[in-house]
Amino acid sequence: MARLLLATLLLLHMILLSCNANFFLNPFMDPGNEGALADPEAPFEEEPDAYNLHHRKKKIRKQRQQKKKNDGIGLDWPQFPLLDDPIEIPPEVPQNPLPDAPKNKLPEDPQDALPDGPPDDNLKGLRVGFYNQSCPRAEEIMAETMAEMFRTNPRAPANILRLQFHDCFVGGCDASILLDSTPSGENVEKSSPMNFILLKGADLIDDIKLKLEQECPQTVSCADIIAFAAREALALTGLPRLPQPGGRRDALVSLSANVDVLKNLPIPDWTMDQLIELFKRKGFTEEEMVILTGAHSIGGAHCGVFTPRLNNYENSGKPDPGLDPAFLNQISGICLDPKEANRNPLVDFDETPTKMDNLFYKNLMQYKALLSTDQALLTDPRTAQFVEAMANNPDEFAKRLAALMIRMGAMEALTGTAGEVRKTCRSTV
Ligand code: HEM
Repeated sequence: MARLLLATLLLLHMILLSCNANFFLNPFMDPGNEGALADPEAPFEEEPDAYNLHHRKKKIRKQRQQKKKNDGIGLDWPQFPLLDDPIEIPPEVPQNPLPDAPKNKLPEDPQDALPDGPPDDNLKGLRVGFYNQSCPRAEEIMAETMAEMFRTNPRAPANILRLQFHDCFVGGCDASILLDSTPSGENVEKSSPMNFILLKGADLIDDIKLKLEQECPQTVSCADIIAFAAREALALTGLPRLPQPGGRRDALVSLSANVDVLKNLPIPDWTMDQLIELFKRKGFTEEEMVILTGAHSIGGAHCGVFTPRLNNYENSGKPDPGLDPAFLNQISGICLDPKEANRNPLVDFDETPTKMDNLFYKNLMQYKALLSTDQALLTDPRTAQFVEAMANNPDEFAKRLAALMIRMGAMEALTGTAGEVRKTCRSTV
């Protein structure tokens, strides 16, 4: 009996040895590649010798890839488009209406952008293509972001241009206008009554800065962002897109006194003498002042700024006699409407508030200006001829304003190691 049992066990052992036990576990298991599913159609021959697992896997993968290639099936991984690759949009899906960021080539020398006249010392230290090495996509990012903002908020360009003007005329283009506080604890430019609630655009600069910090941390200054955003603002509203030099650095301080005490910004009840004196102090002729003020071709003014012209001009209890009667009626309808009394609405400077055209000057010729300082550009003999010239020549206006804005954007810029490059535009590093 014991002998019979021993013989049976011996026979069973031999049967098991002659079979591959793995086959019972999984009929598709690759014998030399335990744990991985074998392709039942695998074209390769079994390797009987002792290839190590690594080489064997590599060989199998290679053979399969080759097979798929030959079969025209393609490689293992889907080819996702890289970020820079254009994404193909099927014809039935409407294309994104976002206006393309302008991409015209920038001349090497910013002086090329300027019209006749001697080279401008103000541009010294700034350079076109400043971020080509340190942040190659900087200008592109700024252009795209401004284009996107313009699409959702067509008033963004006006906000940016006024912000730039208020920054540059007060101690130079150094982004001091953006600081929320200054080390001495004194009032900052932003808190001056000249800026305060009515100055917009700082939040737009914050958004651009955020994107640039993701791309290249602490590289692009806030002062440069204002300048490049202004260049895009002009291009988006119809002016030529000129090369904008970069290299400005950010101020470490900001003082309200520089606005108010030093009278570095104009107000709408200034005389022409005051206006001419201020612009001269900042390096601009009377003609250039007229052209720069043409920026009032976009955006508008809040009723509170000019209401005395409508009902109490120079404390007379009457409207400004220098206003066109139909225009007076029109804006009185908006600003003197009792329902609007607490709202202080914004009135457009002209009928095309998102287009930098010469309609502003044409309106001045018809006594349709919101601000008395604007109207005075026509009534004062020192500036009248320039208003007329711009009203008659829209191309000249576009060319001259674009160039003058590049020059204004370089005023007293901090360069080299002066100042700093902020991490956020609202505070020093
Ligand atoms: C000549 C002296 C100037 C005076 C007295 C003046 C005054 C003003 C005033 C009172 C407003 C309306 C602010 C509001 O109610 O929100 C305004 C708006 C504006 N100013 Fe001037 N400005 C002058 C020159 C300039 C210059 C030189 C520029 C640019 C280069 C400029 C760009 C703008 C822009 C774009 C707006 C519209 C802002 C918006 O709609 O957001 N201004 N200005």
